[in-house]
Amino acid sequence: REQQLKRQFEALEQANNFFQQQLRHSPERKRAVDYLKQRGLSGQIAAAFGIGYAPPGWDNLLRHFDSVDNATALLEQSGMVIHNEDKQSHYDRFRDRIMFPIRDVRGRVLGFGGRVLGDDKPKYLNSPETPTFHKGRELYGLYEARKHSNHLDRLLIVEGYMDVVSLAQHGIHWSVATLGTATTAQHLERLFKLVPEVIFCFDGDQAGRTAALRALNTTLPVIKDGQQARFLFLPDGEDPDTLVRQEGEAAFSERVTQALSLSEFFFKSLSDDADLTSMDGRARFSNTALPLINSMHPSLLKQMMLDRICEITGLSLEQLSSVIDLHQATHEAPAN
Ligand code: CTP
Ligand code: MN
Ligand code: MN
Ligand code: MN
Ligand code: MN
Repeated sequence: REQQLKRQFEALEQANNFFQQQLRHSPERKRAVDYLKQRGLSGQIAAAFGIGYAPPGWDNLLRHFDSVDNATALLEQSGMVIHNEDKQSHYDRFRDRIMFPIRDVRGRVLGFGGRVLGDDKPKYLNSPETPTFHKGRELYGLYEARKHSNHLDRLLIVEGYMDVVSLAQHGIHWSVATLGTATTAQHLERLFKLVPEVIFCFDGDQAGRTAALRALNTTLPVIKDGQQARFLFLPDGEDPDTLVRQEGEAAFSERVTQALSLSEFFFKSLSDDADLTSMDGRARFSNTALPLINSMHPSLLKQMMLDRICEITGLSLEQLSSVIDLHQATHEAPAN
């Protein structure tokens, strides 16, 4: 088994080399290179992220592995090749796409994200889950960010591959992207082991705002004293890539300094849904807020957020906990 995993990592590395080489030598390379240029990427940044190109055709990668023993099975296990049961044949998963290799923190290629050059659907195609690749755990760009700096003090969490690469192109080498999934507790636990501060920066659209709310709910039970989560909201229709290209590093960094703290975003988002001038609104607000706050580890922040609910409702913690179970919060001493 050990041996098999080793072969899979080797195959993925070899596939990555192939895609990078195709960006230089494929007969179709001009379209791919033009596409990357049009998106504002230099050859240097493309190389730093190992960006490549899977040419059109059903078996370029398969043929590249011709001389490898059991290549078809190996590529299929690695998620690079698809088995067509009806035709009893195999074909390349990624065709005519810009390829973004996804590495683990040690730099091993685990899989790929592939983007079409035009407007075809699906816009992005990702490697499937394999024994070595779990999307809820990995973060695109983490290896590259750590390689760039061995002393990171914060990380920006964005939605897409292009956001990470484009930010780096503009000098912001400290962003990571989830892989087409929501931010998981596993992602956050991993990040907080590396940096004390994460800043969520999703797209300025409805999906991005929903993702931020979900990230808030995921963060509450994870975060501890000494750790900070903040939320940066972008103007409508923009994502980190479009914005940093428009306004450059300095203006984007200025936005980062303005990002909302966790508690600011928490109280703002909840009070957007409730009329705090009415008693009923304040009750509804507190009913939503208390279980969420209660999910937090004991901390000073938690205590202060509870105090804020007391201010809003005019009730004491004792009174609140007679209605909602706040055992942890009221009876445990704050951490530290
Ligand atoms: N994504 C995905 N599958 C899709 C669409 C998106 O996995 N069909 C993931 C990808 O990781 C992508 C991220 O979600 O990078 C962000 O999606 P989206 O905002 O739709 O991408 P765009 O910003 O529109 O992509 P681009 O800038 O390349 O046009
Ligand atoms: Mn097969
Ligand atoms: Mn989007
Ligand atoms: Mn984009
Ligand atoms: Mn986007």
